[in-house]
Amino acid sequence: MLNRAKFLFATLSLVLWLDAGTSLAQQPPQQTSKHEQAQQKSQDPWWKHAVIYEIYPRSFQDSNGDGVGDINGITSRLDYIHDLGIDAIWISPMYPSPLIDFGYDISDYTAIDPLYGTLADFDHLVSEAKKRNIRVIMDFVPNHTSDQHPWFKESRSSRSNPKRDWYIWRDGNAMGQPPNNWQSWFGHSAWKLDPTTNQYYYHHFYTEQPDLNWRNPQVRKAMYDAMRFWLKRGVAGFRIDAVSRLFEDPNLHDDPILPGKNAYGDPNIAHKYTDNLPEVHEVLREMRKVVNAYPGNPVMISEADEPNIAELAKMYGAKNDEVQLPMDFQIADVNKLSAPDFRRLLNEIDRNAVGGQPHYFFSNHDQPRQWDRYGDGVHNDQIAKLMAALLLATRATPLMYYGEELGMRTTEPARKEDVQDPIGKIGWPEEKGRDGERTPMQWDASTNAGFSASQRPWLPVPPSASIYNVVAEAQDPKSILAFYKRLLALRRNEPALRDGRYLPLNQEDTNVLSFLRKEPGRGEAILVVLNMSAEPRTIKFDLSAHGVKGGSANPLLAAPEIGAESTQLNHFSVPAFGVFIGSVD
Ligand code: NOJ
Repeated sequence: MLNRAKFLFATLSLVLWLDAGTSLAQQPPQQTSKHEQAQQKSQDPWWKHAVIYEIYPRSFQDSNGDGVGDINGITSRLDYIHDLGIDAIWISPMYPSPLIDFGYDISDYTAIDPLYGTLADFDHLVSEAKKRNIRVIMDFVPNHTSDQHPWFKESRSSRSNPKRDWYIWRDGNAMGQPPNNWQSWFGHSAWKLDPTTNQYYYHHFYTEQPDLNWRNPQVRKAMYDAMRFWLKRGVAGFRIDAVSRLFEDPNLHDDPILPGKNAYGDPNIAHKYTDNLPEVHEVLREMRKVVNAYPGNPVMISEADEPNIAELAKMYGAKNDEVQLPMDFQIADVNKLSAPDFRRLLNEIDRNAVGGQPHYFFSNHDQPRQWDRYGDGVHNDQIAKLMAALLLATRATPLMYYGEELGMRTTEPARKEDVQDPIGKIGWPEEKGRDGERTPMQWDASTNAGFSASQRPWLPVPPSASIYNVVAEAQDPKSILAFYKRLLALRRNEPALRDGRYLPLNQEDTNVLSFLRKEPGRGEAILVVLNMSAEPRTIKFDLSAHGVKGGSANPLLAAPEIGAESTQLNHFSVPAFGVFIGSVD
């Protein structure tokens, strides 16, 4: 677990936060205090100060013993989410679906799949969440439907069907092959021949996920009506799936071939003609108008793994009239503890031209979990705290993934026959699919970690659940969960940390990422120091240019834990992978 042998932090560690009379650890997270008062006073929309938490509904809590999580299970865990300090939950799709892509293949946009419950259960969830000041964000999948959606069934029935043009249909080429070389993100050709009409349809993802034709105004209207359906039910916005893939080149140019092969054995290609076409922005502006018509500042979050920050920033819209929170895959995918890389990306997005709010995350249902991805195999628990601080202490709306607060790890299937996610079957063994990051939430050390009473949950509970679970970690003041709770409480209660400007420091330092968070008004400032290296570091801060006159920082939270003594800014020691957050003035 933790190697906290060396350094100044360690020399102070006898005087733990937990023992100090004034320690933060003894204060319960304040849910209704300064934070909510500040929110009420603030002119900012709620999502600017929120912490959002992604729930993969199949895996969070099973309430009826069928081995799959459900809506009533989520409702039963709202107190946990509230106590953690979360403001909004984004729930991955729960719409009716044949579940080829576990819900990202939707066969009805205005209903709930019986596997997860009923619309009444959903309404109950929204109202129970509201009582706890938690907002509910729906997942919305506009790029494609299921091939079982009635629209597609109609569309494929004949070339003259009125819904034919709701999807992308084309003849094969002269050789009787697919129309061009476009590839599915999930392997092989993106075209599937449909024998009924002897034409090919386009699918960016699985063959069972035909792409909608967003050039057709009827499609747009139907999809915007689906958004309205949920907004009327009180949802606080949408996480919008795969938005950059909404349009394809109508002239069907071949994509450029790149060297090498991918995990599915296909030649690598650049998705030049199916990704990020400019028409996407017109749709995002229209969607924004749809959500803007509803009260409560509904939010749009976009999934879009943009190739660079400049492209990402375009998602805000030239007049900040598109997506409020574009998920920052650039930062999520640094995939190594590199202070210079994080610094460059944080600086770049923080200064985006339209003043858009940064939106950071490190884990989700498609990415191996951060505990392993950033862990070095030795200090993973400490690094989990470092990543928590990077997520929650920077200026952004942070997005967490269920279980990251426990240090849940990626647990891949051991055998191909155990794989649930189709890409793991297509790409085995190089691509094992996404089951590893979707395993059940680890509530306690009982059978199935308290997730389900079923003999066989849909995915096995990882062995690590016996130690890394909510009940065990709630009792351990040094646990990853305890650190997250303190950090989330600190973020709520310190205006500088929640709203303050982001001011990078010591920008030449290759090991330690440090920055100030500074309130514009009274100018309260908080220093954040993150040692991204496996060595202790002693550094020097001169904060006079930022109006800080004092020569020391008073700790508010640190990992490894330290005492309450202030730390000198001109000789500042930070242990390997250490986190320091303290006030300066
Ligand atoms: C992105 C979703 O996050 C992923 O899980 C899904 O497979 C694809 N979009 C296709 O819908």
